[in-house]
Amino acid sequence: MTSRAEDGGRSELEMSPEEMMASALRAAELVIERVQNLPDKPAWRGGSRSELEAIMREEPPEEGRPSHEVIERAAHEILPIAGRVDHPRFFAFVPSSPTWPGVLADFMAAGHNIFQGTWLGASGPSMLEVVVIDWFRSWIGYPETAGGLFTSGGSAASLDGFVVAREAAGAPMQPSVYMSDQSHTALIRAATIVGVRPESVRMVPTDEHFRLDMNELHGMIIEDRESGLTPIAICGNAGATNTGAIDPLDEIADYCESEDIWFHVDAAYGGFAILTDRGAELLKGLERADSIAMDAHKWLFQPFECGCLMVKDIRKLEGAFSVQPEYLQDTQWGRDHPNFGDRGLQLSRSFRALKVWMSVQTFGMAAFRRSIGQGIELAEQAEAYIRESDVLQIANPASLGVVCFRVNSRTSELNDEQLEEINEAVQTRVIEEAVAMMSSTRLRGLYSLRLCILNHTTTWEDVRFTLAAIENFGRETISS
Ligand SMILES: Cc1ncc(COP(=O)(O)O)c(C=O)c1O
Repeated sequence: MTSRAEDGGRSELEMSPEEMMASALRAAELVIERVQNLPDKPAWRGGSRSELEAIMREEPPEEGRPSHEVIERAAHEILPIAGRVDHPRFFAFVPSSPTWPGVLADFMAAGHNIFQGTWLGASGPSMLEVVVIDWFRSWIGYPETAGGLFTSGGSAASLDGFVVAREAAGAPMQPSVYMSDQSHTALIRAATIVGVRPESVRMVPTDEHFRLDMNELHGMIIEDRESGLTPIAICGNAGATNTGAIDPLDEIADYCESEDIWFHVDAAYGGFAILTDRGAELLKGLERADSIAMDAHKWLFQPFECGCLMVKDIRKLEGAFSVQPEYLQDTQWGRDHPNFGDRGLQLSRSFRALKVWMSVQTFGMAAFRRSIGQGIELAEQAEAYIRESDVLQIANPASLGVVCFRVNSRTSELNDEQLEEINEAVQTRVIEEAVAMMSSTRLRGLYSLRLCILNHTTTWEDVRFTLAAIENFGRETISS
């Protein structure tokens, strides 16, 4: 049989190797240019729906256009109109600053079109996922019985984790789940998806540092059991998004053991801090969780989407998800390997482990440890700067890269409403004048500015420059 290449035949949706190369090189060139120029660009760009409708709304063309035109449009008209989440002064929400090998891994995995649902479909990639998940297992300090899988992110990981928790509790008719009032909405959604009524997703009050209050938890569980609910999981935060707060993991673990309740930790934000000595100390008790959600697209410097779920007893995860349809009977060959499609929601899965593997192989663990540690240290330096300032005030001390603070006057009494107006105005100027991208939050109802520092390219000068601008804007706003 002659190959299609030999007889020159190509499908209508194929390109010649020359076109493929030229377009790939141009796309790479544009992305590298973007990354190199990041510090000189604003950390955020956006547009209103009506503005963007005018630029982008069109019918799909019946006939194609030259690929270089399409690439240029994507690079200049679409992709830049977005938050530059990897900008060294992007401190809003949760930044993400991918390493280049991670970006290339996504390209290579897509180019090989890996179907990472079964071992039959992708033995090599599945083996690598086993290896990388085992790295995570040992970083956490989990036993050999533990395992997990890569997911799109922390939301999907916690959802899969709650399925196991529900099954471990015997799939009760009236389940309830407990989490602190600082927990991420991803957990609320995950709980409702697995069948917990919204009113049975119980938000436990927190202490002065926004950590789950054990007495309140205990009281709620007694009350709920009396009213017929069955607790299926207690969730701890290992770095709450708002404040970086870490719940008392050891105490929750003790409580879960004594009450026979599944212990899930949302470590999507802070989990990989465990790679540093400081983080390991702060996250003590994480290894006692029954399941853990972690996001490598946050503090392990991978491009979106790169989350994972780790479960202490991997048999429970597979027990909860494994279904064997006839049309997948061929994937049961060999018994000594996992089919990752049996560990969670997705059957068709991309090969996410490659990103972590290529990045770690390229830079080595020491570089990762230092880069993670740098985020923790910069947030602490920011806290020290804020404490010294005559116009800034700490709202919550630095915790795992997050510091919350507000502009306030030391000389005149400002009420909450005035403070909110002032801080809102300052935040707007920081963004509009392209100093940095930062987001605000509310701590016990009070408006607060928030810096989240976990980009490996962020320097103290980026943080200092931003804080100095906030001080200046603050002074001007207070006196205006
Ligand atoms: C603490 C925490 N949990 C869960 C999530 C949701 O994770 P993802 O967006 O990866 O689904 C986030 C995202 O910022 C988070 O910070």
